[in-house]
Amino acid sequence: MDIEPGRNAAITSVVRPSDETGGTLRLARTDDFDSLDPGNTYYAYTWNFLRFIGRTLVTFDTAPGKAGQRLVPDLAESLGESSDGGRTWTYRLREGLRFEDGSPVTAADVKYAIARSNYGSDVLGSGPMYFRHLLGTDYQGPWREPDVDGPVTLETPDERTLVFRLQRPFAALDLLATMPNTTPVPRSADTGADYRLRPVSTGPYLIAHYEPGKQAVLEPNPHWDPATDPVRKRRASRITVTLGVAPHEVDEMLLDGRAHVDLAGFGVQPSTQERILADPVLRSRTDNPLTGFTWIYCMSSRIPPFDNIHCRRAVQYATDKAAMQKAYGGPIGGDIATTILPPTLDGYEPFDRYPVGEDGTGDLEAARAELAAAGMPDGFRTKIAARKDRLKEYRAAEALAAGLARVGIEAEVLDFPSGDYFESYGGCPAYLREHGIGIIMFGWGADFPDGYGFLQQILDGRAIKPRGNQNMGELDDPEINELLDEGAACSDPVRRAQIWHRIDRLAMEHAVIVPYLYPRSLLYRAPETRNVLVTGSFGMYDYVAMGAS
Ligand code: ARG
Repeated sequence: MDIEPGRNAAITSVVRPSDETGGTLRLARTDDFDSLDPGNTYYAYTWNFLRFIGRTLVTFDTAPGKAGQRLVPDLAESLGESSDGGRTWTYRLREGLRFEDGSPVTAADVKYAIARSNYGSDVLGSGPMYFRHLLGTDYQGPWREPDVDGPVTLETPDERTLVFRLQRPFAALDLLATMPNTTPVPRSADTGADYRLRPVSTGPYLIAHYEPGKQAVLEPNPHWDPATDPVRKRRASRITVTLGVAPHEVDEMLLDGRAHVDLAGFGVQPSTQERILADPVLRSRTDNPLTGFTWIYCMSSRIPPFDNIHCRRAVQYATDKAAMQKAYGGPIGGDIATTILPPTLDGYEPFDRYPVGEDGTGDLEAARAELAAAGMPDGFRTKIAARKDRLKEYRAAEALAAGLARVGIEAEVLDFPSGDYFESYGGCPAYLREHGIGIIMFGWGADFPDGYGFLQQILDGRAIKPRGNQNMGELDDPEINELLDEGAACSDPVRRAQIWHRIDRLAMEHAVIVPYLYPRSLLYRAPETRNVLVTGSFGMYDYVAMGAS
């Protein structure tokens, strides 16, 4: 019999390592992929999954924990070479790279991929836009045929060389080069909005069948050459993904063996958690890692009474973080947070600017002192934006409101659909202002595992937008903005980490964000899975490393 490695083993080691090949790896998911188009996706699990199909200039090592954030040249022969103070970056492609039809991969295919994902905000606008800003190809408007030649600031002096000429220095270009939008796309195969149905493979598998919302099947790509690939091994001979399954049914499938992994990587449902944790054998097959997100809520510094810093600080102190943690299932659901940066990133250093007491329930005396300083000793009224379709978040908002009521802050919890949350409600400052919504529930993970990738979108004053806004505190602090620019240009990892930590402290001083939980997931690894590890790059099982017996 298989000796079951213990609980949490895949967080620090490779569980059931094996070089066995063959078998079918079966994944299941409640929803569909956001998009299998490498130029149009944002969800971490999709990026993780896309490593089966597409190769990027640079990728993450397949290793547990922090080591999974290590950068490895993928299509490129080596990590990027920078010159010109970090403004110019050169990548040289490996020899012998081929698309699934056997045709060679050229630098122009990578350039085209980056170009197409930089245009057409309404068709291919769902991925991060860092390249667009850095390459100076900002274009907002209706979709248009991508410029065949791509941005002139991305040069291809020969078939294997790609030169990025950035508008300003960016030291972490290798991290951006891990993003799926550096996956080569042959121009002749680009079907625009439909490309997601059949992206052309450069990885170990190709898409044999994909019916959105129902099923995807991957089969070996005959033109993937393992000799050119430093991270991927083709273990399973087939991969199936069952999509559109009810949440509890996904859990049932895991427990009865119909599925090996829940693709979403968020972990099992609360009732399944209880059942698993009560059974020593099932329990030994679980991992409870930090996901790399921080659950936070924001107070808009431009919406009364939160334009007064003392009101924001009163809320910081009056927050019952212990009750909010309970809404997520207690310690299994995460650790109480006191910093914006999660513990999984360089630059995280523990500190607690607004301690809420040993038991985490709040410091009401400190809160009352802040209310007095604000000239509102009896409290005030406000509203909280939350999403009931993210039930735990909604329950956390209710726990927040109950905590605040203890000092006379009356906060009404409002429910909004998560689909339009950023476009029309929480991410729309005018809407919040008009409705007097001062508190916005939120959760954030790094776009790429780095302080810049975590902090820039939520704290840069220049990132405040009328719609899709993620700097919900509407903080525009010149010192923070400058530090973000300095960190972006800084290539010394030690100094970089110091900068991210400094920004974390400054933002907490402004009190616009209340971090309350570093969430954890309860992941179940089916006994048939091989080579299971939780990667620090995506905070879930590393799919491309995995096999099945
Ligand atoms: N920053 C985004 C969020 O918090 C994405 C985070 C995870 N996705 C990713 N591709 N790394 O929703």
